[in-house]
Amino acid sequence: MERTKRTFIYPLFERFWHWSQAALIVVLGLTGFEIHGSYRLFGFGNAVSIHNTAAILLLILVAFTIFWHFTTGQWKQYVPTTKNLGAVIRYYAVGIFKHEPHPVRRTRYAKLNPLQKLVYLGFKLMIFPVLATTGLLYMFSNQLGVPISPVAFLHALGAFVLLSFFIVHLYIVLTTGRTPLTYLKPMITGWEELEEDESAAPTPAPEPSAD
Ligand code: HEM
Repeated sequence: MERTKRTFIYPLFERFWHWSQAALIVVLGLTGFEIHGSYRLFGFGNAVSIHNTAAILLLILVAFTIFWHFTTGQWKQYVPTTKNLGAVIRYYAVGIFKHEPHPVRRTRYAKLNPLQKLVYLGFKLMIFPVLATTGLLYMFSNQLGVPISPVAFLHALGAFVLLSFFIVHLYIVLTTGRTPLTYLKPMITGWEELEEDESAAPTPAPEPSAD
């Protein structure tokens, strides 16, 4: 039987960031697609002001989160790797349906599997910058004199990609664990039952010598 150990994996700021980002994205998605004309929910005027406020809050949150990633060294979790990438893709396409074990073991030093690293990094470096830039250009289009159609198109495209990710993310979190709470609970409490493996721990820095 595999040995598991209760491990503290998500510090408070990471959980705060995760859930407030999720809430803001839901609000931005709901209001954004009303502005786009997909349905009527809050009323167009309200949707615009809620969207603008949530967007500013998200930009502030992201600024703090970038600071957190660099000061804690957590940015290293997102350095992409091709090692085991093929195995993870094969697992989600085929292996999972045959109840095969996950090819990559999670530790608190490697919270993300190679596919997650790639997808999350892509969001940080591509999707979010596109959404934020086009959103700000949209906001200040009058002052800047930018043509609105391409900006709105790129913004809605970025939103659509983010929304698709959101749905797949939720589906994977809720359906691939032993129970729907297996992967959800650690992001609330910070603690997760992980297979014991300290082998991936970074080597402790040598003590400074006295001379
Ligand atoms: C990151 C910062 C963001 C900023 C600064 C921002 C800003 C804006 C602004 C100013 C508008 C136009 C409102 C108007 O008509 O007056 C807009 C529209 C929209 N936003 Fe955002 N937004 C951001 C993030 C998001 C996110 C995360 C989503 C989706 C989850 C989203 C989805 C949309 C959609 C679908 C529209 C309608 C585009 C269209 O006209 O077809 N936005 N946004």
